[in-house]
Amino acid sequence: MNKVVFYSNTGQSKAIAAYFANQLGYPLADIETKCAKHYRNLVLVFPVHCQNIPGIVKTFLKNVAVENLTVVATYGKMCCGNVLYEIQKKYQKNIVAGAYVPTKHSYIDDDGVFRDFDKLKPIVEKAKDPSYIQLPGLYKNPLADILPKLRSRLGLAIQKSADCNGCNLCAARCSFGAIKKGKINSNCVRCLRCVESCPQQALRIKLRLPLKLYLRKKKTNKLIIYV
Ligand SMILES: Cc1cc2nc3c(=O)[nH]c(=O)nc-3n(C[C@H](O)[C@H](O)[C@H](O)COP(=O)(O)O)c2cc1C
Repeated sequence: MNKVVFYSNTGQSKAIAAYFANQLGYPLADIETKCAKHYRNLVLVFPVHCQNIPGIVKTFLKNVAVENLTVVATYGKMCCGNVLYEIQKKYQKNIVAGAYVPTKHSYIDDDGVFRDFDKLKPIVEKAKDPSYIQLPGLYKNPLADILPKLRSRLGLAIQKSADCNGCNLCAARCSFGAIKKGKINSNCVRCLRCVESCPQQALRIKLRLPLKLYLRKKKTNKLIIYV
C-alpha cells in the first residue's frame, strides 16, 4: 500500500501532505483515522512540537511496518530539533528521504505559510525511485525533553469569549480528550486544533511572557532536504 499520512492541527502539515499526495498519486490520510499496518511507500508529514516528535506520531511509528519511508517535519522557524534522526534511530530504519520545512508557527499570527512547493520536488523524485539514506543528527536543546507538554500548557492560555454557543465541536475535534463540559483540562498540549476548528471563532490564545519573549527570538527559514 502507498499512502501520504499527516498529523496536523493548524493545517500547515496537511497542506504539504496534500502536495505530496497530488504529486505522487497516493491517497491522503489523517493519522487519526484508522490506518493500515503495512506500507510499501509511505510519506509521513507532521509538525515539530517543542523540538520533539508529537506523541501521536510516535505511537503510529511504533505500530507500522514500512518498506520505504519519507518523513517530513514542519516547524515554526524557531528550532526543528532532531526529530528525523530520532525517528530513524528509534522507530523506522528504512528512510528514503526527509525534510524539515519552515512554515507558519501555530502561535504567531503572521503570513509565514510555506508556499515554495517546487523546492520539495527532489523529495517527490526520490520517493518515486527509493533507496535508503542515513539521516544526520541536528542540534536539539538539551532542555527540550523536560516536560514539553507542561511547558506548552504554561506558555499560553486558551480563552473563551461570549461568542461560544456551546456547540462542543472543540471537544469533538480534540485528540487528547482535553475539553470536558466546556473546560480545558491538563491533557491539553496547546496544539490549537480547538482554536482552529471553532466555527464562532470564540477561542483565543493569550501568550504568557516567557513564551512571548521566546517567540521574539531570531527565526530561521531553513528548508533542509535529505535525499
Ligand atoms: C505545542 C507546539 C509546540 C511547537 N514547538 C515548536 C518548536 O519547538 N519549534 C518550532 O520551530 N516550531 C514549533 N511549533 C510550531 C509548529 O511546529 C508549526 O507551526 C507547524 O507547522 C504546525 O503544523 P500544523 O499546522 O500541521 O499543526 C510548535 C507548535 C505547537 C502547537
